[in-house]
Amino acid sequence: MASPLEYLPGFTLDQYVDFLHRNHQDLYQLLDDKRYADNACILRESLIVMSSEFESKTVGGRGDTYRDARLAEPLMRLEGFKELLRLIDSTTVATNGPKKVKVLDALGGCGALARQLAFVGKIADRFQVITSDISPSMILTAIRDGLPALRQAASYMLLRDGCMESILFAYGTHHIPVAERVACLREAYRVLKPGGSVVIQDFEEGTSTARWYSELLHNNTATGHNHYHFTRESMIAMLNEAGFSDAGLREVDDSFRVDDVTAEVATSRLLKHLATLFGIVTFPPAERWTKADETAFAQAIKPYSAATGDGVKLSSKSGMVTATFSRVALVGIGVKR
Ligand SMILES: C[S@@+](CC[C@H](N)C(=O)[O-])C[C@H]1O[C@@H](n2cnc3c(N)ncnc32)[C@H](O)[C@@H]1O
Repeated sequence: MASPLEYLPGFTLDQYVDFLHRNHQDLYQLLDDKRYADNACILRESLIVMSSEFESKTVGGRGDTYRDARLAEPLMRLEGFKELLRLIDSTTVATNGPKKVKVLDALGGCGALARQLAFVGKIADRFQVITSDISPSMILTAIRDGLPALRQAASYMLLRDGCMESILFAYGTHHIPVAERVACLREAYRVLKPGGSVVIQDFEEGTSTARWYSELLHNNTATGHNHYHFTRESMIAMLNEAGFSDAGLREVDDSFRVDDVTAEVATSRLLKHLATLFGIVTFPPAERWTKADETAFAQAIKPYSAATGDGVKLSSKSGMVTATFSRVALVGIGVKR
């Protein structure tokens, strides 16, 4: 199974498999050695076609600031993640008795879902999360923090047939080119156990949340954002084409929210998080913002909030103020029968 492929910086694939064997037996047991030993070319091609959008600034990406912002403010999208976990929990048919539901976070970045488990309360006990992503720098960050993680393309996974209870495509599904989406879902179908669920989170074309990307991000980031989202029909059709016969849709509250002691601090944290996470370059870096910069950014994002087009909303409870930038996600669910 020798492969000269530099799989991750400092690791060939063989060395990484050995690392998993020693450090993450659970994940090691799920690997299909034939897929990487016999298909080294396919594997290499699947990893080469990645874009550099989520790599570092030095190669033209916005991955550094994305990752830093994600790790600095882990609770901003907590409600959306909780709802995705509830959906996974309610749609996955238990096949493994009292054991935890194994979820693959297939566009998991540096461990998005795995890190959220620390904050979601009791429901966390139901899940065991494996992170995978095509980006080497994202996966290296996950590995350094001790998370079980794999570098793989969603269209060509290194996992065995029928080994996962659920597969999540969230916060980034629109980065998969439209022509490859069904292939990724077919791959998910292969890797799921019967009774297992696939959950796709993205945004509906034409909504203010989708326009956040196609207008605001496209015009104000170094990478632009030329990615098609989903229509309701296309999400269902793709799930059906991949083999998920009775697919369904939900709308999920996917707002950014932060609690703090004053309205001013909560609003400022929220706005700075949005500008940093999404790599906005047409404003000064958020850590150097003047009050005028902050006000101008708040004004620029107003048309893209889902509820009212009013931008950041404030509410208070028990002495804390919550600042919310509302968004609505479109979520497709399919079960492998
Ligand atoms: C917007 S980021 C979100 C990461 C993570 N879901 C989060 O919430 O932090 C999208 C991620 O999708 C990954 N990605 C894009 N296309 C992919 C593909 N075909 N296979 C695997 N990962 C992919 C990118 O490398 C990136 O890390």
